[in-house]
Amino acid sequence: MNILVIGTGYVGTTTALVFAEIGWNVTGLDVDLPKIKLLQQGKLHFYEPGLEDLLNKHLGTKRIRFTADKKKAIEDNEMIFICVGTPSLPDGSADLRYVKQVSEDIGRHMNGDKLIINKSTVPVGTQELITAWTRDAQMVPYPFEVASNPEFLREGKACMDALQPDRIIIGTNSENAAKRIGKLYESMQCPIIVTAPRTAEFTKYAANAFLATKISFINELARLSDRLGVNVKEVAYGIGLDNRIGPSFLQAGIGYGGSCFPKDVAALLNMAEHNEVELKLLEKVVHVNQTQHMYLLRKVREQIGNLAGKKIALLGLAFKPDTDDIREAPAIHMIPKLRNEKAYVQAYDPIAALPPELMDESVNFGSSPEETMEGADAAIICTEWPMFLNIDWVQVKDSMKAPNLFDGRNLLDADQMKRIGFFYQGIGYG
Ligand code: UDX
Repeated sequence: MNILVIGTGYVGTTTALVFAEIGWNVTGLDVDLPKIKLLQQGKLHFYEPGLEDLLNKHLGTKRIRFTADKKKAIEDNEMIFICVGTPSLPDGSADLRYVKQVSEDIGRHMNGDKLIINKSTVPVGTQELITAWTRDAQMVPYPFEVASNPEFLREGKACMDALQPDRIIIGTNSENAAKRIGKLYESMQCPIIVTAPRTAEFTKYAANAFLATKISFINELARLSDRLGVNVKEVAYGIGLDNRIGPSFLQAGIGYGGSCFPKDVAALLNMAEHNEVELKLLEKVVHVNQTQHMYLLRKVREQIGNLAGKKIALLGLAFKPDTDDIREAPAIHMIPKLRNEKAYVQAYDPIAALPPELMDESVNFGSSPEETMEGADAAIICTEWPMFLNIDWVQVKDSMKAPNLFDGRNLLDADQMKRIGFFYQGIGYG
């Protein structure tokens, strides 16, 4: 089966390569020529473990090719996946301009029956809009169908998530479309659920909103744990063993970031507002998350006083390990606040870079975690990179101006750090 994947960002590239891996012939299409050129050379324009190997493997098997030629790509393929970005607009709603553009391109270049499958995260009802946008752009009224097939990939684990998904959701009212999409995934060992398109679109938001809720729940309890002298890590373990709760997404810290949770929860709240439904619980989830890194900064101030002139080391910029993505990362939200308080920031991340707009005479990027903490009044762990476990903390303690260690991801062993001589505080831990 020949598949076209439109959009070679994170989701599109992963989707395209996973289809190649399970045996299909895939074309990746993008209007961004430099991205296409890189992919043709076997290079990714973002960091994702294992994906570059898959890319080179299937450039070799010739099951994947990349092009910027829309017309030919659309003409040559019957099954077309839409995998373009749906960024947040200022009111929190999803910006559908790229989805609209692609739908119109497909309509304009349609030369026969097509099955359009949307993977981009879109507000409920977008399958109907894609159908209308495509139809309105058609030169000849060829028959076509539009289905929804949301993705649930995690950055840093995208290959595993895409090759061994927990479930596949196909949103269509057409038996024919369900059968054709089901065939694409038939080698995968997981439930395949066929639902109405609106249900599929909603399921994606519901999944992300629930996971965000779990995180804010444990983060809020972590604040109380701090007051009560309770270890929130043990609480999470204790409740997570209950099958009805489950152990994942109960790791307290300085909050969730990334390209999905903040954006998708905002979009869900926006949908609710438009439909005059209050989602109070989710509003609070967002509030807890937005204030969680400030909660840690408050702890820092309580320990070292006024931050003016103090040197603060930030370990980790990425919103989580195994990615270079800094979108909505708590560390990135912390930097302007530290700068406003006239602190000096020295940041380090093994992969992610400091965005140029945050770099000035008071914000620097260190060459190693050890160098970053040298002479610091406090160090804050913002991302739980495993490499931070291997730091020689005894040596670091002696090199800091004051041994104040704030663990925003509860990564280190509190007792061990205290034994070394640090003032150590995690979130609901330490
Ligand atoms: C998420 C969803 O997991 C995925 O299914 C969806 O398709 C896209 O959004 P991703 O954004 O890649 O994936 O990251 P994820 O691993 O879910 O983590 C999101 C954020 O939550 C990170 O900032 C992480 O540090 C934080 N987190 C996660 C916690 O703070 N505690 C946890 O227990 C788990």
